Amino acid sequence: MSVEVWIAQLNLASASLTPADFAVLSKGERELAARFRQNDDRLRFVVSRVLLREALTSIAGVASAPRDSWRFIYEPGCKPRLCDEQAARYGLHFNLSHADNAVVAAVSPTSEVGVDVEPLDGPGTSDSDESLFESVLSERELEALRRLPAGTRREDTLRMWTVKEAYAKLVGVGAELDFDDFEVAPGPWRIAREPRGYAGAPRARIETRELMLGKQRYHIGLASRAPRTLSEAAVLRLVG
Ligand SMILES: CC(C)(COP(=O)(O)OP(=O)(O)OC[C@H]1O[C@@H](n2cnc3c(N)ncnc32)[C@H](O)[C@@H]1OP(=O)(O)O)[C@@H](O)C(=O)NCCC(=O)NCCS
Repeated sequence: MSVEVWIAQLNLASASLTPADFAVLSKGERELAARFRQNDDRLRFVVSRVLLREALTSIAGVASAPRDSWRFIYEPGCKPRLCDEQAARYGLHFNLSHADNAVVAAVSPTSEVGVDVEPLDGPGTSDSDESLFESVLSERELEALRRLPAGTRREDTLRMWTVKEAYAKLVGVGAELDFDDFEVAPGPWRIAREPRGYAGAPRARIETRELMLGKQRYHIGLASRAPRTLSEAAVLRLVG
């Protein structure tokens, strides 16, 4: 196993958090959760932490690492990571993404990972949003999109975006990375050019998955330097 992708499907209309959900969080995470103004944001935050702990415990073994034992380091703007002691002990890497009713945790014992999930229909995919993507995709990427069937161009733009975000999250600098400095390409999705100073060995590999959660289609982009493909993504938790 190189990368496991764990997915929680939320039903925001009916989902609620239980004391058991909060019980596994650290004090700092409970404080962060309390600061959200929007309940949906709090829900995604808490569920992502619960899901992540389930994934880590499943891989590390419940006897050595129960769900409430995991500790993370959060620094503003930076990729969350395991505390140094657990990182050295278990050698696990992870990344999180959440959007609408989807919460995704990617965990790997062999490589850093970056994951991004986006809904393919609904808000964020209107024609007027296409200019938004033009500012973050390179001319060559936009050209590649124009060569794809016109009927699926909006979706393909979003797919390309998840791949690009996943790579940015793999290297861990998020929006600080110059998005013109690296390129992704379709068919199959791949990193066509890594940014200066970030190219690593082995090369970054991209995998994607599409799935229905409720009535919404989601696209997941996953970037890693793991030698093998990810195990099958499946919805492992339903909330609400
Ligand atoms: C990382 C980022 C691009 C993802 O944003 P997004 O697509 O809107 O949201 P997603 O749901 O896909 O991902 C959010 C998750 O990515 C993770 N994340 C945050 N920063 C990250 C980073 N730099 N690299 C990788 N992952 C990061 C977090 O777990 C976060 O979830 P949380 O807020 O519940 O902890 C965005 O948060 C960002 O631009 N951050 C600023 C980057 C920055 O300032 N870096 C400074 C140098 S370290």
